[in-house]
Amino acid sequence: MSHAADRLDASSYVERVLRADVRAMSAYHVPDSTGLVKLDAMENPYQLPQGLRDELGRRLAQVALNRYPVPSYARLKQAIAARFGVPAGFELVLGNGSDELISMLSVAIAQPGACVLAPAPSFVMYEMSARLAGCGFIGVPLAEDFSLDLPAMLAAIRQHRPAVVYLAYPNNPTGNCFDDSAIEAILREAPGVVVLDEAYQPFAAKSWMARLPEYPNLILMRTVSKLGLAGIRLGYLAGARAWTDQLEKVRPPYNINVLTETAGLFAIEHADELDAQAAKIRDERQALATRLAGVSGVSVYPSQANFLLVRVVDGPATWRGLLDRGVLVKDVGKMHSLLANCLRLTIGTPAESVALVGALSQVLAK
Ligand SMILES: Cc1ncc(COP(=O)(O)O)c(C=O)c1O
Repeated sequence: MSHAADRLDASSYVERVLRADVRAMSAYHVPDSTGLVKLDAMENPYQLPQGLRDELGRRLAQVALNRYPVPSYARLKQAIAARFGVPAGFELVLGNGSDELISMLSVAIAQPGACVLAPAPSFVMYEMSARLAGCGFIGVPLAEDFSLDLPAMLAAIRQHRPAVVYLAYPNNPTGNCFDDSAIEAILREAPGVVVLDEAYQPFAAKSWMARLPEYPNLILMRTVSKLGLAGIRLGYLAGARAWTDQLEKVRPPYNINVLTETAGLFAIEHADELDAQAAKIRDERQALATRLAGVSGVSVYPSQANFLLVRVVDGPATWRGLLDRGVLVKDVGKMHSLLANCLRLTIGTPAESVALVGALSQVLAK
């Protein structure tokens, strides 16, 4: 027996049912880093000490993998709130990485005419997630020195009335924290929610967490990824209950798996270890910045994050030269005209910095 449908190949079905804009997109590209010094993704280069890893292994072995998670995640939320200073009376929503929290926000606001606004360049998922949910996206160029162009931001907010404004604090890929008075002006002007994305908070001198009570339209988003737990995928947002009650409706009920939940709780119990690693990374950031400043042909931008943005004469050729010498960094030059010939270098171990500076000096000496 043969059906007419049997004659169609899979791509014909895809074309028939999938959105044209999705078909035209490219998937988020993660390059193969096997055998390379991996300085492209803002990971913490250190693992937990062996003793703690053994203990975590024992803890994970006790987890009932046959059971669904308990979707309130009350214990994990309490531990996060206590350790990371969530102000009393504010609630949390957990995400499978902050990427998922961004998706939840996009889904929750997606209605005809809704849009998201962020400075540009900034974290690419704000735009990608908004567009996937069918929302508009407005990117407002930063000033030349990567500070917020406040008049342009306020004008765009008045014109487009975005449901969400994202401000990464510090910003990725520029590494700076925006001016607090500019953020205050945006919070006052925005007709919707302003999400301060503090993904890089462990490396920054400042945080807005304690200021949550000041603005009813402020949500604070964080992740444990940069702190040293990128692999477990755990992000959280903190906000007034009026926001979190609604976002809970959009959250897939079991989005935090039991292994992540257990590993997250364990890591928070041992957060001093992670804090010590963050301190080492901050020291290494300073050491690397100083050494890079001594390499001719490299301009280094100040950073409050676990990466340094640098500008060279020929970004793509420098990126390629580093790769040829076994060092993988991120070429951000094509992201935005403000970033022409810029590379983003994740802070690694002192030994990785030596490899990076050595390779870079060789490439630029050619
Ligand atoms: C500003 C910012 N927010 C969020 C994320 C994503 O974090 P997560 O690993 O929790 O999805 C990143 C990752 O690079 C980022 O740069």
